[in-house]
Amino acid sequence: MTRTARFITVEGLEGAGKTTVLNAIEAQLRASGVDLITTREPGGTSLGEDIRELLLGHKHDGMADDTELLLMFAARAEHLHKVIRPALDRGQWVLCDRFTDATYAYQGGGRGIDMARIETLERFVQGTLRPDHTFLLDLPVKQGLDRAAGRSEPDRFEKQREAFFDAARATYRARAQAEPGRFRIIDASRDLNGVLAQLQASVSALLDEELGA
Ligand code: TMP
Repeated sequence: MTRTARFITVEGLEGAGKTTVLNAIEAQLRASGVDLITTREPGGTSLGEDIRELLLGHKHDGMADDTELLLMFAARAEHLHKVIRPALDRGQWVLCDRFTDATYAYQGGGRGIDMARIETLERFVQGTLRPDHTFLLDLPVKQGLDRAAGRSEPDRFEKQREAFFDAARATYRARAQAEPGRFRIIDASRDLNGVLAQLQASVSALLDEELGA
């Protein structure tokens, strides 16, 4: 059966304004009559949210990189089985705060795990399912970290050095360049109105493409 519901993800470094952007995308899609659910990774299920706590909290600060990678995919497997695939099968669009591009960026770029191993897990857990559209909120690392600083107690990822985020950003940008049909890059270094204006135009173009609206 051809699937008409769309799987949309939002990616970006810390301090990129992801929450505001997700809310704006959700509002615009709903206003256009799209039936959708919103969710996030790591998380989105009861088990996934417990895994998120293990990953982001400081109880396991010395976690091995491979453990971190496998926990990301364990949470994702649960999320796909319980939430994402059922919604798409019902015909609902899925708007997800981060997905596997974050694994390539953070575990691949940031931690330096071989990308080929991530590809193997991606095929194992997802089969052929990939996001249809991905918004990448791009901004200089330092600007993002400055914005994120002081929000709350930094989690295990926010505590990483700038070089980790430089590598994550470079990976995100390389992936966007390699798949221009899927990615829409939003310049998140601009002020809120500037970001929201770009976003609105981009979501309108997506809706035109998908609904012929
Ligand atoms: P956030 O969703 O609140 O931004 O926090 C999630 C953190 O987890 C963020 O620092 C990115 C990180 N992350 C990974 O390292 N790999 C992944 O696959 C995902 C989904 C998130």
